Amino acid sequence: MKNKLLQLKDKIFTELTNVKDVQALVDLEIKYLGRKGELTQILRGIANLSDEDKKIIGRLANEIKEELREKIREIKDIILEKGDENRDVDVTLPGEKIKIGHLHPLTQIQNELEDLLHSLGFMVIDGPELESDYYCFEALNIPPHHPARDIQDTFYIDPASLKTENKKIDLVMRTHTSSVQARAMEKYGAPLRVAVPGRVFRSEATDACHDVMFYQLEGLMIDKNISIANLIAVLHQIFSGIFKKNVKVRVRPGYFPFVEPGLEVDMSCTICGEKGCPSCKHSGWLEMAGAGMVHPNVLRAGGIDPEKYSGFAFGIGLSRLVMMKYGIDDIRLFTSGDLRFLEQF
Ligand code: DAH
Repeated sequence: MKNKLLQLKDKIFTELTNVKDVQALVDLEIKYLGRKGELTQILRGIANLSDEDKKIIGRLANEIKEELREKIREIKDIILEKGDENRDVDVTLPGEKIKIGHLHPLTQIQNELEDLLHSLGFMVIDGPELESDYYCFEALNIPPHHPARDIQDTFYIDPASLKTENKKIDLVMRTHTSSVQARAMEKYGAPLRVAVPGRVFRSEATDACHDVMFYQLEGLMIDKNISIANLIAVLHQIFSGIFKKNVKVRVRPGYFPFVEPGLEVDMSCTICGEKGCPSCKHSGWLEMAGAGMVHPNVLRAGGIDPEKYSGFAFGIGLSRLVMMKYGIDDIRLFTSGDLRFLEQF
């Protein structure tokens, strides 16, 4: 038995010296050390030996096994280091490109806007998308039966569906980011400079210009002696920054219950330079935002004294802004998940 083992060892080691690649090494390992391998078979036979032989032969067999394992490992390292000649790899081929994604165009512009506003001293905050009727309307000077509610087709939430104890709170999906105005005033007081980017929801029939969900950016600045000139200056910085051009900003009267006076804000058309083109409906100007001086009732709702402080607010349609910047003609593309669209940005 001892001789048989030693012979086998010699045989294996001779075969090992001829091994050239990893596959041959694996085959050899299976041939001798596998479940049905020659060495394994001998080891199994040890059980039938006398106690004394068991000790001697058992030890020898295990030593050979260990030695063999060690040798196989050694040879494997050498082969791998040298490069396996039979491996089918062409190291001169260019590497495989790893596909990495990128930010959604809306997120890109939102980030740019946030940077611009930060540089003007605004802090960027968030607010709930499922909002109370109070913050979405009442605190903004829009009482329950005010006709201004009709402008915004609202998703009201059925109170019976709520898990909360308090079924009296009327909840809506916020129709605008202006809903965060009173929240910010309550939390931070005056003076205040905040920007609120985020999603808003309206129960609309969808088409190329309308979707049930879109993005807005609300701005609010409250301090002593704030005027419309400050508002125009801030919007001028924002639009010029986003369009990377020195644009002009003009204001027209507009009605929003939470501002007085209320304004519609236009920007000079970046495509035709005010000459008139299809993008600006031949007017030379593009409608960019609603804005105005914060209504005293809104300041009061936020706990700020309108005798001491004044402020401006503006609401930019972020989705619309991105559409204008890139010439996107259908708002629904933003949420389509269509890579042919997204990969262009
Ligand atoms: N919240 C308005 C809307 O969604 C936009 C708006 C208008 C916001 C005037 C303002 C503002 O802050 O002063 O239509």
